[in-house]
Parts: sequence; C-alpha cells; structure tokens
Amino acid sequence: MKMTMKGVRGDYVYHIGDRILTGLDSLVEDGLPSFIIVDANIPETVVRTVEQTLSVSGRFTVPAGEASKTLRTYERIIDALQDAGLPREARIVALGGGMVNDLAGFVAATYKRGVRLLLVPTSLIAMADASVGGKFALNTHQSKNAIGTFYTPEAVIADTSTLTSLPDRELASGMAEIVKIALLHDADFFRHLRHDTVSPRDPGLIRKAVKLKQDIVERDFYDHGERAILNYGHLIAHALEHLHEGSFLHGECVAFGMHLMARDKPFHEDLQKVLARFGLHRDIPYEKDELLSFIPHDKKRHKDDIYVTADVEQPGNGFLKTFSFQELKDMIPEGGPS
Ligand SMILES: NC(=O)c1ccc[n+]([C@@H]2O[C@H](COP(=O)([O-])OP(=O)(O)OC[C@H]3O[C@@H](n4cnc5c(N)ncnc54)[C@H](O)[C@@H]3O)[C@@H](O)[C@H]2O)c1
Repeated sequence: MKMTMKGVRGDYVYHIGDRILTGLDSLVEDGLPSFIIVDANIPETVVRTVEQTLSVSGRFTVPAGEASKTLRTYERIIDALQDAGLPREARIVALGGGMVNDLAGFVAATYKRGVRLLLVPTSLIAMADASVGGKFALNTHQSKNAIGTFYTPEAVIADTSTLTSLPDRELASGMAEIVKIALLHDADFFRHLRHDTVSPRDPGLIRKAVKLKQDIVERDFYDHGERAILNYGHLIAHALEHLHEGSFLHGECVAFGMHLMARDKPFHEDLQKVLARFGLHRDIPYEKDELLSFIPHDKKRHKDDIYVTADVEQPGNGFLKTFSFQELKDMIPEGGPS
C-alpha cells in the first residue's frame, strides 16, 4: 500500500506493508550512497536487509533510548559522516523508532545544508506518528524537543514485519496515539478499535492512522495552530512522564491523560474499553499538587496561564479549546500516592 503525502518541500510516498524491506531498492532511487543511522535494538537481520538492498557506505549505531536524542550524539554522527566522506548527493537512512527518526531527520536536514532522508520506522509510534508530518527534533538538558526543524523525507518505508521484535509494552504504547487520533477525528475508526480482531501490526490500521494525522498536518505544516489538536491528553501526559522520570512509557501516559480529560464525557466508558483492549487502562499514581507542578506555568506572562489544547465532546469531533490553569486544576482529580 502506498500513500502520496504532501511535505513542506514537495510530495513524497509513504509505503506500508508486510516484508516490503526486501524490495527497498525498487521503492526508492537506486545507486545513491546511503548511510544508515540505526537504533542498537534493531535486529541485525533487519539492518543487513537494508544494507544489502541499498548502496551503503556506512552505519552509525545509536544506543537505544531517549538519552541519545541530543546534540552530543548529533555531533558524533556528523563526525562519522565527514570521516566517511559522505557527499551532498547521499541519503541518510533512519532505521529505528521515533528517537532515531528525530535524530537522523535532524542530521539529514542539516548535514551539508540538507541531504536526502529515507525514513524506515520500526516502532508503532514511529510508523503511525513520528514519521508523519516532517518534524524532527533534539532534546537539550533543559527540555524535550527544544531544537528542531521541518524537513521532507524522500520516502517512508514502514515494514510491519519489523514490529515483531518490538516489545509488547512499546507496541501498546504506540496504540495510545492511534486511539487518540481516532477519538479526535473518526468515530467509526474509534469504535472499530474495540473489536478483538484489531491487530496493532495490521498495515491497514496504521495506514488509517497515518492518513488521519496527515490530513491535519497538511492544513498546518508549520504547527501554527490546528496541529496542536494532536496534543490531546499530552499536557497531563508530559507532566506524568516528568513525575515518574521515564518509568511509564509515553503512550501509557497519553492513555492516562486522555482518561482524565474524558472523565465527565459521555464516551468515557467506551474510551476505557478501547484502552483496556490494548492493556492501556492501568492507573498511573500521582499526587495532584506534585503533578500540577510539572505543568508549565508562567505567571509573568498571563494573570492566569492559558493552555490551548484539544478537547472532545463526541468521538470524531475533536476541537481546540483554551483552558486556564484553574480549569486544568479542576479537571484533575486527587490521585493515588506516587
Ligand atoms: N517528530 C515527531 O513528529 C514525533 C512524533 C511522535 C514522537 N516523536 C518522538 O519519538 C520518540 C518516541 O518514539 P518511540 O516510542 O518509537 O521511541 P524509541 O525510538 O526510543 O523506541 C522505543 C523502544 O523500542 C525499541 N525499538 C524500536 N523499534 C524496535 C524494533 N523493531 N525491535 C526492537 N526494539 C525496537 C527502541 O530501542 C526503544 O527501546 C520520542 O523521542 C518522541 O519525541 C516524534
């Protein structure tokens, strides 16, 4: 299956299917020197498949985990590209989850002022979310995704067979973003997710989520407004991630954030059932004041802080809404001990 996607610098194709990596050379221009940036957890057989189908001139293996998405790793990769004499006509291949997607995308956008970028996502979050929309970022000591750019890949190749080595917990975490986009924009898709037959590794399911995200991205490439709707549940999720210092996965926190945002809504029970279907219904402990202290708060700029984030009244009908800090505070119940 393939989809034509609009990017900030022209169109590109998103290919998705089972075992499509073996035909990689027929999906992208052949014969260009390619340099692979790969997550250390990707099985060697997968890396070899990519290397054997493209003219590969080098490989940089990045230690797994968010701690690698930094300027320090970026600089080490740039050194490796220069040592390999990688020319401007070359391509960078990002082979991994969302972390490698962002890191390699940032490298490709800046090395020699921009070289080709081939995204080969291997996690559900990378396939359904990070590889869609052309945003690439690095973390700084102070904050996540603080340095970033918009860039257009040459293509995205999502081979769902790579998901077989992805840990189950990571797979479930990726489902949270798919549930989110369905809840925001497609009531039928949201209801469909409750069925026992739904598999997170189904190319059709991921394709649907990609299409829904892409529709939003195309209306707001540079993230000036409407794209903020994708942050449903994320204000609370980011605070939970800080509070627990990474012991809960992003998608687990997003699922819990959505659950709190939807507590008084008529679809709350349905949401809980969908989340439970993927093992995402578990409570995350927190102490309310501590959690609130991790929500960015800037009293100097506003009398009361203002947050523009998504809300949903009916599945499929997500909209942007302005919340005051007080409203957010009222929405969050007293939690259990953290
Ligand atoms: N740019 C964007 O628009 C965007 C959107 C969403 C998320 N992101 C970024 O994506 C990252 C989160 O993505 P993620 O959850 O994929 O994180 P990740 O890349 O860290 O992958 C999660 C874990 O799965 C492992 N993994 C990945 N693919 C695997 C495979 N096929 N087999 C075995 N293990 C595998 C990784 O080693 C890691 O341990 C964050 O950095 C986030 O900021 C970016």
